[in-house]
Amino acid sequence: MEQKGIMLSGIKPSGELTLGSYLGAIKNWAERADQFECYYFMADLHAITVRQKPADLRRRTLEQLAQYIACGLDPERNTLFIQSHVPQHAELGWVLNCYAMFGELSRMTQFKDKSAKNADNINGGLFTYPSLMAADILLYQPDYVPVGEDQKQHVELTRTIARRFNNLYGEVFKMPEPYVPKVGARIMSLTDPTSKMSKSEDADTGRVCLMDRPEDIMRAFKRAVTDSENTIRFDRENKPGISNLMTIYSAATGRSYEEITREFDGRGYGVFKTAVGESVVELLRPIREQSERLLADKGYLESVYRAGAEKAGHIANKTLRKVYKKVGFVAR
Ligand code: TRP
Repeated sequence: MEQKGIMLSGIKPSGELTLGSYLGAIKNWAERADQFECYYFMADLHAITVRQKPADLRRRTLEQLAQYIACGLDPERNTLFIQSHVPQHAELGWVLNCYAMFGELSRMTQFKDKSAKNADNINGGLFTYPSLMAADILLYQPDYVPVGEDQKQHVELTRTIARRFNNLYGEVFKMPEPYVPKVGARIMSLTDPTSKMSKSEDADTGRVCLMDRPEDIMRAFKRAVTDSENTIRFDRENKPGISNLMTIYSAATGRSYEEITREFDGRGYGVFKTAVGESVVELLRPIREQSERLLADKGYLESVYRAGAEKAGHIANKTLRKVYKKVGFVAR
């Protein structure tokens, strides 16, 4: 049998998953299960680099698992697990910390951004975040790591660390490639269409969350920022708001940009925004309903994350033992 490639990614359960998480990431992941052996996890260890309310973190971690499944990640065909359930992540993270340079970690854009935003809590974990992420990745020897543009730098650093380690000890780690989906799938904030729709955004108008009620979704789209030209055509540079709405509508309905331009020719932005809102309500309805059903069945979710951790742990352990041996630890 032909050996399948390996794919791995994770999302921090530090905020609600959004329409952007679905269209920009999870939906694409779900389409990969045929070609790849896939691992997806809730990055709870990473989430605590920023202060979390314990009860919220616990709830969001389970919600995220339910939403992964509702978005099409079939647990029979994908390994779904909680990062903290596989202790090898933290263990390899420590080792890799000793192979990541202070200067390299200091240059990470996300570290600089987050330090600026959390000036009262610039903790060690925030600084060494990329070594833990390198461990997440390298434990599974993946071919591809699907990430957003903002995480590409971390995958590059993962490669640097892996190369450094391999140069010292021989081929231990496989070189992973970042896999950044097409620009078209990048969903921007509805109120600030030049920045990414973020799951941790405070204002609730610029984003649409997977669990939002239809009336909230409609309200968010009615408030979406546009421009004063009043024609619906795709032009990311000059018409970021309308272009973002077109991307969303296209993803929700399968229509091309030309078809959308034709469909709304001579009709106002108000009509268009309502149509986009309605398409998103219908797109998310089954996901929300399925997530709610799954969340009501804690026993099932538990069986999924247990099986996931067991499978992931088995692979992770193989890599970790190899690493421990290479660096000179006495075997247990
Ligand atoms: N850092 C990623 C983010 O903020 C989440 C993440 C943690 C991740 N570990 C990973 C993504 C490993 C890909 C691979 O979104």
